[in-house]
Amino acid sequence: MKRVEGLSKLTGRELYVDDLPVDGFLWGATVRSPAARGRIRGIRFDDSVDWSEFTVVDHRDIPGTNAIFLIEEDQPVLAHGRVRHLHEPVLLLAHPRREELRRAVEAVHVDVDAEPPVLDFRLTPDRERIQYGDDNVLKRLRIEKGEVERALAQAPHVIEGVYETGAQEHVYLETQGMLAWEEDGVITIAGSMQCPYYIVEAFEHALGRTPDRIRIIQAATGGGFGGKEEFPSGIALHAALLALKAGRPVKLIYDRSEDLAVTTKRHPSRVRHRTGVDGDGKLLGQDIEVVLDGGAYVTLSPVVLSRSIIHAAGPYACDHVRIDGRAMFTNSPPFGAFRGFGAPQSLFACERHMDRIAAELGIDPVEIRKINLIRDGDSTATGQVIADGADRVQVLDRALDLADYYERRTAHAGFNAAEPTRRRGIGLATFFHGAGFTGSGELFLDSEVHVAGLPDGRIEVRTANVEMGQGTLTVFTSLVCDRLGVPAEAVTIAPADTSLVPNSGPTVASRTVMVVGGLLEKASDDLRTRTGLPADADGRAIREAIREWHRSHPGEPLIGKAKYEQPEHIHWDDETYRGDAYGAYAWGAYVADVEVDLRTFAVSVRDFVAVQEVGRVLHETLARGQIQGGVVQALGWALLEECKWRDGAMENAQLTNYVIPTAGDVPPIRVEFLESPYPHGARGAKGIGELPFDGVAPAVANAVAGATGTDPASVPLTPETVMDLILRQRPPAGSLT
Ligand code: MOS
Repeated sequence: MKRVEGLSKLTGRELYVDDLPVDGFLWGATVRSPAARGRIRGIRFDDSVDWSEFTVVDHRDIPGTNAIFLIEEDQPVLAHGRVRHLHEPVLLLAHPRREELRRAVEAVHVDVDAEPPVLDFRLTPDRERIQYGDDNVLKRLRIEKGEVERALAQAPHVIEGVYETGAQEHVYLETQGMLAWEEDGVITIAGSMQCPYYIVEAFEHALGRTPDRIRIIQAATGGGFGGKEEFPSGIALHAALLALKAGRPVKLIYDRSEDLAVTTKRHPSRVRHRTGVDGDGKLLGQDIEVVLDGGAYVTLSPVVLSRSIIHAAGPYACDHVRIDGRAMFTNSPPFGAFRGFGAPQSLFACERHMDRIAAELGIDPVEIRKINLIRDGDSTATGQVIADGADRVQVLDRALDLADYYERRTAHAGFNAAEPTRRRGIGLATFFHGAGFTGSGELFLDSEVHVAGLPDGRIEVRTANVEMGQGTLTVFTSLVCDRLGVPAEAVTIAPADTSLVPNSGPTVASRTVMVVGGLLEKASDDLRTRTGLPADADGRAIREAIREWHRSHPGEPLIGKAKYEQPEHIHWDDETYRGDAYGAYAWGAYVADVEVDLRTFAVSVRDFVAVQEVGRVLHETLARGQIQGGVVQALGWALLEECKWRDGAMENAQLTNYVIPTAGDVPPIRVEFLESPYPHGARGAKGIGELPFDGVAPAVANAVAGATGTDPASVPLTPETVMDLILRQRPPAGSLT
């Protein structure tokens, strides 16, 4: 099936929020905290500006609760009294002309009595830096299986490691932006977002109004990757507050520099492993500590931490596991959702550590994984028994095969012995990713979808799930076509507009196809049933029956419906963190072949193999695109992308010095899928959006380790880091050439 919105994107006809036609609007802008932490002493407005031309909004203009509603209500919409991070929004301005607005932002001075900030999540805070609870821990979670201390005490070998990962910016092509206006008493937003109903909830709380007076419309969205999961609620509220006060539409669009500096990033992490193994490399006990930098407010950190610890022990069977997780308060802009949602961090540590264990014991990195990979009947760290029919060893074997792993390893040894200034290495990672919300999350979401039969016989899909480049519209169309036997032209997708579509949950967590797609199949069945036709009715009959139904029910809507029901096999205990953390996992084995230049210390990836078992592949081209895109984005995290911090915020907020991969950095990426259908996913599909992010950094770091004989413990492996690793390892003078 052709991509539904492909032509409009290709021809530039797609309307992103900044393209939407609107008359008489004002531009909005945000005045931000100049300090990482402190008490607001006052706000001064320069006389050089005629302020009567401006709409000015502060916390007193918030009609409801001054909090961005999420897990906690600690993050203000606009700071009041104190600020907790650099760039925290304090005041909003609107004006018809953007130039004047820029000058005006500079003419507002937020005076702050600075207090000592927490800028390093790894350090135990002293008393004067405590700002959350009595230890700055935003969230603490623990998984316990068996008796880890006893297992470690009895293990012939105990191997330790500490691993760190850095922040990462999403760099969606389209920056954050919202257009707000009030129409017939309804505050309306059109903007770039993943989760329209999150914004409805945020508006209910902060604007103190009922959902019937709130309308949120997703405009065409140029990429999200998690960056448009929770962050848009705040900027949408800002645009709305300005529009309500000005009585005119307000457009609030961040330029790239503001977007880089102030929006959420991937949580930095530090993960410690203490692992008991026998002489063959069999895991006897895993003691793991995961610490994440949460930033200045709780936002989504508890659930990111949750996914992080659930994936921390890797796709391996081990009887004794303890995983301690903490998300720490720091005076940084909050870290947030980003493709993988905590799993890439803990899986980097796990997979780098597996290679370290293999090296210390003199075992082949392939063999240590084969010995430990979960077989059907084994259980994960949370005690979830895996019996999905997927063959994880086969996934690994296929990747090794496709990569010519052993041949390349031999060839590299010869190359490295002969070459004075270049070193090659090949590295692998085996990993998994749970699809959908964790534990009981999907139950709480209570998602609902509609499939409507229109009077002209067309079928309209109504969900709140969005297209953001990943292919939702296309896959949803094809699922309904398949289920009802109708051609693509017969199916339309309603805009993700909360006045038109039910709450089918957020477009996150690799849930859209597996969970929402599954509901679409049920709702399609329900539509067919409502027309009075049996399950084997063909598409032509269904379309005729829809038209006939409308002739006999003039003016009435015909809507097939489905609501989420938890599959019976899922049992999860939120208190003990035991049970079935996810309905299904996708499994992967990635192999990276790298070359390190010993003169520049740059790492280039020569070849990349990505093999995964994802249930059923519904659209081969889109699925491959997801894997390739995820690999490239994760290569950036592994090798290039480094946030430089000043007062807890990103200082290198330009794409000239925050370096992301270009086409020139992308190796051949060879993608292969194995299929073991998941009975509760749409047509057997499991989630794939986030999976590819998990396996890249460890495969690359393991390859760099092999190439250079070093033991990297962090990403990004920038040239500076690789230089340190290599020079630390060898006598520096003259030894490299
Ligand atoms: Mo996501 S990181 O589940 O939008």
